Amino acid sequence: MIDLKVLEGAIQEVEADLIVVNLFEGVKTPGGATGAVDKAIGGLITRVIESGDFKGKKLSTTLLYTFGRVKAPRVLLIGLGKKEEFDINTVREVAAKAAQEAKKLGVRTFATIVHGGGAGGLDFKEAAYATAEGTLLGAYSYKAEKKQSEEKKEPETAFIVEFNKSNIEVLESAVKKAIGVAKGVYLARDLVNLPPNVASPLYLAEVAEKLDKEYKKVKTTVYNEKDMEKFGMGAFLAVAQGSAIPPRFIVIEYEGAKNKKPVVLAGKGITFDTGGISLKPSQDMWKMKFDMAGAAVVLGTIKAAAELNLPIRIVGLVGATYNMPDGNAYRPGDVVKAMNGKTIEIISTDAEGRLVLADLLSYASMKLEPEMIVDFATLTGACIVALGLEIAGLFTDDEELKEKIEKASKYTGEPIWQLPLYKNYRELLKSDFADLKNSGGRWAGAITAALFLKEFVDTDKWAHIDIAGPTWRDRGYPENPLLPPGATGYGIRLILKALEGMEA
Ligand code: BES
Ligand code: MN
Ligand code: ZN
Repeated sequence: MIDLKVLEGAIQEVEADLIVVNLFEGVKTPGGATGAVDKAIGGLITRVIESGDFKGKKLSTTLLYTFGRVKAPRVLLIGLGKKEEFDINTVREVAAKAAQEAKKLGVRTFATIVHGGGAGGLDFKEAAYATAEGTLLGAYSYKAEKKQSEEKKEPETAFIVEFNKSNIEVLESAVKKAIGVAKGVYLARDLVNLPPNVASPLYLAEVAEKLDKEYKKVKTTVYNEKDMEKFGMGAFLAVAQGSAIPPRFIVIEYEGAKNKKPVVLAGKGITFDTGGISLKPSQDMWKMKFDMAGAAVVLGTIKAAAELNLPIRIVGLVGATYNMPDGNAYRPGDVVKAMNGKTIEIISTDAEGRLVLADLLSYASMKLEPEMIVDFATLTGACIVALGLEIAGLFTDDEELKEKIEKASKYTGEPIWQLPLYKNYRELLKSDFADLKNSGGRWAGAITAALFLKEFVDTDKWAHIDIAGPTWRDRGYPENPLLPPGATGYGIRLILKALEGMEA
């Protein structure tokens, strides 16, 4: 991760390969830090504005060369867009865009001001945090296993520069918090981007064990097939039985508070979803390596919570297995029994995520006395049909939890939309051969999947978040500097923000 540092002083005096300043749309004479840089470089910014080549449109950029007039050889001018539309999400995007431009230029160091603190009129603390977080989210790149074509090095250090001494302390703590959060998001992105032959159930277990070693307050227990049999996790085991590589049930606890009921976070960890005997079409099947993104949210959130030393108790549950077709694979027509005793008729072996979650949710309900349960899963293609690739589906019967999550979503810029746990559709899961079947057919697939999960939860303090869409960003999809192509890490910032309200 890029080294993000705070620097007290004037941006025009900073020694860095690139300095970043901003401009609102329509501004003719820049003020504040941008004005100071403009002055120092002989009015070049004003001239560029006059030329009409830079209008301050949101996320538009212009690169200027300073020819020795200041220590930094380059100035990146970035647009904040219309003042009326400006908010904390713009700050995050602008900071991320600047980090990406710095990466493209191949500079080693760059420095930015806090966007939106001055003329933007935002609360300095919020603006500082969003600038820091955006910088880190935008600077991410997956370290692929390939020869780098040329010596293209990533920026090593980014400075956030602040002139006003009385703001420095606030900025320092904002940067610290952003680094903690970003470490969680980076972990999740890396895990989801990794090829499925590497990111196996065993690998996810190793990552969880490493977090245990790294953080005093993290405790990991990894269960194997034998343990899972003892728990009676027949649904999870059915999914796993077609794979030569064994499953793992991972319990990873973060104990930031004692004697408190835990918040349980459960994650679908299908390390590759072939569909099993109900085989998926081969087109784009490779993307099903992201079917463990729910697990990545859980691990990333635990890491961030530990980094931030949050005063809460979280128990993370990860159900990690491949979904493979082979001679020992489970079949459509099979009847299996989940940990809570309910029997399930398998209609499609491709509806495997809900089977794994059935046992995780049973475990949470029966063993953990949770304060609440939130599960994350790339559960249904139907959720993408309903909400598209950017919006997650939210299912809950708890008003308070719904409000917390929706409020967090507005703040973090991770879009979510509630879909109903519509009771009549429970009928669609009725089976002649078991308590319920694992597929409710074509219509309302995201809802029937959520209703299936509900059968394994015994509290209303439960939310299911279907992240099938926003977990992955295709290359070529409309650009968003916060979300580089590939794994997005969607959900970690959202749940961390929602949990903030729970702090003592
Ligand atoms: N992992 C998939 C859901 C998915 C599909 C996520 C495409 C992202 C993109 C899940 O296991 C699945 O296959 N669900 C089926 C359920 C159906 C068989 C009832 C689906 O959505 O088609
Ligand atoms: Mn599937
Ligand atoms: Zn799946």
